[in-house]
Amino acid sequence: MRGTKVHRMPAFSEPSFVDRLLGWYRQAGRDLPWRRSPTPYQVVVSELMLQQTTVATALVRYSRFLQAFPDFPSLASATEDEVVAAWAGLGYYQRARHLSRLARQVEKAGLPKGEAAWRRLPGVGPYTAAAIVAFAEGGRTLAIDVNVRRTLSRLLALKDAPRLDVAIRSAIEPALPADSGEVNQALIELGALVCRPTRPSCPSCPLAEICLGRHQPELYGHGPKKAAVRDERIQLVAVRRRGRLLVRQRTTRLLEGLWGLPAAAAGELGLPDGVQGGPVLDTSVQFTHRFTHRRWQVRCTVVDGDGEGHWIDPRAPDVALAGPDRRAVEMLVAGGYIDG
Ligand code: ADE
Repeated sequence: MRGTKVHRMPAFSEPSFVDRLLGWYRQAGRDLPWRRSPTPYQVVVSELMLQQTTVATALVRYSRFLQAFPDFPSLASATEDEVVAAWAGLGYYQRARHLSRLARQVEKAGLPKGEAAWRRLPGVGPYTAAAIVAFAEGGRTLAIDVNVRRTLSRLLALKDAPRLDVAIRSAIEPALPADSGEVNQALIELGALVCRPTRPSCPSCPLAEICLGRHQPELYGHGPKKAAVRDERIQLVAVRRRGRLLVRQRTTRLLEGLWGLPAAAAGELGLPDGVQGGPVLDTSVQFTHRFTHRRWQVRCTVVDGDGEGHWIDPRAPDVALAGPDRRAVEMLVAGGYIDG
């Protein structure tokens, strides 16, 4: 058919694509807690977490989060700030807010079923909706995140193009079993362990024999260009009083609702609004904190003083500090700056 591109699975010999993949996954796949017969709630929590952090971090944070909020009702009855606090350190707090709103909607309107219904909830995109259906509803679908996209683009030798996911889906979905959860986990696993972004381990790949991109894997799966990262200089001020530090709740969108040290104008050793004291002591607490689209060059000064806000014990803060602030406080404690 001239001008029409038809993507099909390569004419696979036996064993089938699915059998090869599952044969490998059942012996090489990791036993991760969110893979053990998860509920929709557990899939929502784990997949949102895994979109932001590594498996190693998610292993710790997932069980902690489930202890605090074991199901939709417990999450729905918590305040948005409590959910954000439980999410602290995982970054991108908008997700925690979405999660809180999502739980309330589920409590009000009942558990959705099917991808289209899940996608109407806050924070649920095509990947998460497909993951819920595959992992918790036992449906047939393909959950395509960046790693699965890369793996399958290589398998099918599909270069980045508009509607790439549509092409991948049309080639792969017909080959999936009705209950596609395990195959989806296996694809995620293959992308993480074998078909890595750089230096994929083709010799140990269960799909190497049928992979159309194996001779030039680097040609495929780069995805859209990343947005530029903006550098910002941030001047934090640790206001000390009797071994305690002053913190305030942040109101900017990036870290809204989390607590942090007051900030002064960048590059100035001055005092933030609403803080009295002095003299200001420059510290050796300096570090870079990376967000998805921003990079903070943080510098921290210390002042003995007073001000409006909440006073924490820096060794055991009783509020959820934002990532950079937590790091600054830990460095101040380690550097002996707290007790004067
Ligand atoms: N990354 C995204 N989803 C994942 C999953 N279910 N298991 C491991 N890593 C993941």
